[in-house]
Amino acid sequence: MTIDAKNILVSYTKNGKKDNTISIINSVDITIVPGKVTVIFGRSGSGKTTLISVLAGLLKPQEGSVLYDDIDLYQQNDDFISDFRSKNIGFIPQGQSLLSNLTIKENILLANNNGNDSDRAEELIELLGLSEREEYLSSQLSGGELRRCAIARALINQPSVVFADEPTGDLDDDNTQIVFELLRQKAKDGAAVVIVTHDESAYNYADIVYRMDGGVLALSDTQK
Ligand SMILES: Nc1ncnc2c1ncn2[C@@H]1O[C@H](COP(=O)(O)OP(=O)(O)OP(=O)(O)O)[C@@H](O)[C@H]1O
Ligand SMILES: [Mg+2]
Repeated sequence: MTIDAKNILVSYTKNGKKDNTISIINSVDITIVPGKVTVIFGRSGSGKTTLISVLAGLLKPQEGSVLYDDIDLYQQNDDFISDFRSKNIGFIPQGQSLLSNLTIKENILLANNNGNDSDRAEELIELLGLSEREEYLSSQLSGGELRRCAIARALINQPSVVFADEPTGDLDDDNTQIVFELLRQKAKDGAAVVIVTHDESAYNYADIVYRMDGGVLALSDTQK
């Protein structure tokens, strides 16, 4: 699936005053293509999370459109969008997002559309080095283990589009490499993969590189 976002604008009003708005995403155009890893670098606060939230159907922009092939996402109703998201999109959020009273495997399978794809869950648990922790509750996991579990959860439905928000933020070098390799493999398998990160090592796994600065997106001049 190709995602074509045009003229995206997100702003917030300060102190509830309409004439006091701050612009967060400013006239952003971006096309995300299947089979490629697109990496968006940018400083903290530059608007990366906001932008991928818009692209993933989680945040309706004040202006602009997001097309998934010929589906204009924000012209659809909320039920359509959430159903579309669960069928097509894997989202790895920046913060902690797991249910603390469930085990790793239960958290992963909770996101599983066709109920109980236990083999696929096991495969991801193994790939992400979580086998020894499989039966642990997520309240008993380290930050990096939680992050890897969230990655497995986002990939359980074999989504055709993957958004990863700082997926390696809590990880050591070895696990960072495992996660970027896994995301690159998803792209090789045909998915459109978008990674937003500060981690410059993501550059080695990217096909297309953007930089975000103050809500403005530009193709990196170190384009590969
Ligand atoms: N709901 C909101 N209301 C007002 N301002 C917001 C809101 N959400 C985000 N912002 C502001 O938008 C800006 C961009 O935030 P965003 O989370 O997209 O940045 P980011 O590039 O992902 O940063 P980081 O690398 O730290 O995760 C920030 O200055 C933030 O304070
Ligand atoms: Mg962010």
